[in-house]
Amino acid sequence: MANYEKPDTWSIKAQREAYPARSVYKLKEMDEKFRLIPFKGRGMAGDNSGSALAGGFRVLDLGAAPGSWSLYVLRRLAGAGFLAAADLSPLSRQYDQGLFDGGNFSFIRGDITSPELREALLELGPYNLVISDAAPATTGSRTVDTLRSLELAETALAYGEAALKRGGALVIKVFQGGDSGALLKRVRGLFESARAFKPAACRRESFETYYVGLGRLPKGG
Ligand SMILES: C[S@@+](CC[C@H](N)C(=O)[O-])C[C@H]1O[C@@H](n2cnc3c(N)ncnc32)[C@H](O)[C@@H]1O
Repeated sequence: MANYEKPDTWSIKAQREAYPARSVYKLKEMDEKFRLIPFKGRGMAGDNSGSALAGGFRVLDLGAAPGSWSLYVLRRLAGAGFLAAADLSPLSRQYDQGLFDGGNFSFIRGDITSPELREALLELGPYNLVISDAAPATTGSRTVDTLRSLELAETALAYGEAALKRGGALVIKVFQGGDSGALLKRVRGLFESARAFKPAACRRESFETYYVGLGRLPKGG
């Protein structure tokens, strides 16, 4: 077993920058590389108006606890837009400084595979960006973990399919193995471009990666 309990440089940086988990740097890297969230004054995924955040950039964060990705998105949105988030577990309130109480944020505690939660989250859409870092509690068996992760990734893809605006973007965590290649093919069919990307902050020994879809194609197109 690697040093899972020992704080590494990413964990220390996360603490210093007031994020509850090191995973924030995976999203940050993907945001910087793929321009997932617009800066004020620049156009954005799923919005052809060119008015950037003024149009109301909407994000869905699946598997959001303890809340680093949600905090990152809210800090980037800087009061504009809207973020919906969901997880089986509650969010940590250690670092949010009231951001999780803001009117542009909604967290629902529950199972993202349940039809009730799906309906509630779809009602809060449509979204410009769907991000999923959802992962099963690992068992140590790569076969079991990969299979469970794939189910969550399939679920996230279904949210992307149903709830993304045209031109929107999708990021989903996948444990490589099993049928994960087939899933990437399906992402490719729904977006102008799609690829697998492993951020530097992923633990070297981890078999996780992210599928990134950019430019949601028109439904049925
Ligand atoms: C790696 S953590 C997410 C970390 C988060 N992105 C952050 O930056 O704080 C994976 C999360 O997926 C959640 N999860 C796993 N299965 C889920 C399910 N069926 N429904 C909702 N959340 C789920 C877990 O509870 C866990 O909090």
